[in-house]
Amino acid sequence: LIENIHAREIFDSRGNPTVEVDVVLNDGTLGRAAVPSGASTGDREAVELRDGGTRLQGKGVANAVNNVNGEIASALTGKSPFNQAEIDQLLIKLDGTPNKARLGANAILGVSMAVARAAANSEKIPLYRYLGGVDLELPQPFFNVINGGVHADSGIDVQEFMITPVKRESFCDGVEKVANVYHTLKKILAEQGLETAVGDEGGFAPKLGSTEHAIETLYKAIETAGYTAGSEIAIALDPASSEFYDNETQLYHFEGQKLTSHDLLAYYENLVAKFPAIISIEDGFSEHDWDGFAAQTKAQGDKIQLVGDDIFVTNPAIFAEGIEKGVANAILIKLNQIGTVTESIEAIKMARKAGYNTMISHRSGETVDSFIADFAVAMHAGQIKTGSMARSERIEKYNQFLRIEEELGAAARLAKFPE
Ligand code: PGA
Ligand code: ZN
Repeated sequence: LIENIHAREIFDSRGNPTVEVDVVLNDGTLGRAAVPSGASTGDREAVELRDGGTRLQGKGVANAVNNVNGEIASALTGKSPFNQAEIDQLLIKLDGTPNKARLGANAILGVSMAVARAAANSEKIPLYRYLGGVDLELPQPFFNVINGGVHADSGIDVQEFMITPVKRESFCDGVEKVANVYHTLKKILAEQGLETAVGDEGGFAPKLGSTEHAIETLYKAIETAGYTAGSEIAIALDPASSEFYDNETQLYHFEGQKLTSHDLLAYYENLVAKFPAIISIEDGFSEHDWDGFAAQTKAQGDKIQLVGDDIFVTNPAIFAEGIEKGVANAILIKLNQIGTVTESIEAIKMARKAGYNTMISHRSGETVDSFIADFAVAMHAGQIKTGSMARSERIEKYNQFLRIEEELGAAARLAKFPE
């Protein structure tokens, strides 16, 4: 049974405060979890409770921490940690708002994850096994090696340029191939006199000027490292286009131009025709442009993966609407967008039923907590994106997969994408 719950304020990879929660059971077991934080957040995400005021630029989470240590601890003490759905229902009810605005999604998610960890630790089984049973699979990893948008000052409008080892013998083999490309990319950038310092997610942040130039540079790095772009190492983009969409004029301010939804679709179609190594585009259209996103799905959905992030915010109710309207063919899963483990699982199950792919995701502000690595394996989610080959808060997730692969041995199953 849950004996004690204690939260504290710690700091994330951007130096902003975040919530860490310890759940202690009456058998002495500890479960600890830390909550990540986004920068290009969707408008309809569950509410991340920040203190406001002057302390820590208004970003303090003392109120969220107090909510855990007070109200939530009182409600959960004495409860069994082994029924995650029940715990999460209790948290949702206790909060009482539709978007976790009262207690804070950061408070609630921290408790939700820490309870799962405590339960797994108490049973002395790995978290992925506790959450997933026997149906386990290592996901296809997407490494964000060039950072733009609000994650860097590279001046590139597209937020994420990811590479993924579509051809690999093992998870480990895939990471090794990506490491080779990553180091080659660094060399190529340096030779061109470009910046090799990294952005929020560990990708380089060079002033490459345009999306096309960034992709050309990726092709060069992949091929110089000895691989074929497309069949061995493929490319995925996250333009995070809500960030450059003008809600009033309904125009996209992209690379010095003002594009209609129609123009932007033509741009993506040309881009994919020119660079066939692109296999996935996330948030190509704004969370406020459902028609644009649906039109893209109609035009490109049978050729490439189209991932909904800001538009669905891991929210089963919003996602259901999206499925009905033919928006995207995959969903990004970020636990802190919705605020509990159980609701995240619900979104994944919904995706599976509707024939949508699922990609688990970190946030641009992270800690070394690798919960999402275990979660991806447990949910046999198929895909994950968790940053580049730099910055320990990113690498820690990939390293966790290496440990899990070693532990599973011959039983380690690899996700295949594209199928
Ligand atoms: P965020 O970005 O964590 O800053 O919201 C990640 C994404 O847009 O996928
Ligand atoms: Zn995104």
